[in-house]
Amino acid sequence: MPSPEPRTVLITGATGGIGRAAARAIAAQGHRVILVGRSAAKAEATAAELRQATGNPAVDFLVADLSSLAEVRRLAAQVLERCPQLHVLINNAGAFFARRYVTAEGLEMTFALDHLSPFLLTNLLLERLQASAPARVVVVASATERNAKLDWDDLQMARRYNGFQAYANAKRCNLLFTYELARRLAGTGVTANALHPGAVATGIWSRPFGPLGFLVHPLTRLAMRSPEQGAETVVYLATSPEVEGVTGRYFVDCRPRYSSRASQDPEAARRLWEISAQLCGVTAEPNA
Ligand SMILES: NC(=O)c1ccc[n+]([C@@H]2O[C@H](COP(=O)([O-])OP(=O)(O)OC[C@H]3O[C@@H](n4cnc5c(N)ncnc54)[C@H](OP(=O)(O)O)[C@@H]3O)[C@@H](O)[C@H]2O)c1
Repeated sequence: MPSPEPRTVLITGATGGIGRAAARAIAAQGHRVILVGRSAAKAEATAAELRQATGNPAVDFLVADLSSLAEVRRLAAQVLERCPQLHVLINNAGAFFARRYVTAEGLEMTFALDHLSPFLLTNLLLERLQASAPARVVVVASATERNAKLDWDDLQMARRYNGFQAYANAKRCNLLFTYELARRLAGTGVTANALHPGAVATGIWSRPFGPLGFLVHPLTRLAMRSPEQGAETVVYLATSPEVEGVTGRYFVDCRPRYSSRASQDPEAARRLWEISAQLCGVTAEPNA
């Protein structure tokens, strides 16, 4: 069901997979959509395609490599400059890395891209979201968070790296972050919810050198959801009036579900928030 009035929606990872499908559906509802992509050419082409496909001229793009905290900061500054109002932030960009990479800023890539980037982007845009309330933060997590084993002394897995474990851990971090954010935003008119999109046939399964690409036989991909199906819960949480005011929940198939018990531990969430804030140089602690 379309929302009554057009909203401004920022979505990361919108040049492919679930993010692109969600951006298209949200643009088709008539909202202003700002896509974030890491390649200017791809982001520009995607925005043009979505404008044409939906007939909505209000589809724009910004460019940032979200594995870099400096780029996240630059992106946030551009958003604040361009968007006097921001009603929905969708933290969707994410990736799996079979091998351990360290970013130029000295951070393990999965932790930086899948967790610290949405943490920092959200924090930098919080004031604008609050000023635009009612507003929503949507975090694309994953059911694989159940396989997480967070080592608080080695969150970036310097001692022993395993791509599957790093990805599951980052997705657990997505949930701990979302729940803590919802607690901190209580009463502000900004909600925060996370979701699992299902197993979706997207580029994430075919990263170069990744064992996932090898393991996922083409026939298995056929059994997976399409990006459009995977985007359904993203779109629901971003725009449906049904979830107005709903916060601190985890959704699968547009229904609230329980994530793992460990992901609901408020002490762990607070601890992760403090570590992340320190790593990102975030000082403001709204409603802490
Ligand atoms: N697919 C699934 O089965 C599944 C299941 C559970 C959760 N998820 C989650 O769903 C989200 C979307 O994934 P997807 O399946 O749609 O994967 P995808 O097709 O690989 O899309 C990922 C998106 O993130 C962008 N991205 C990757 N690295 C980036 C970086 N360094 N800076 C900026 N953007 C970057 C990609 O940009 P490019 O176009 O430039 O590559 C792309 O737009 C992820 O958070 C993923 O963890 C997926």
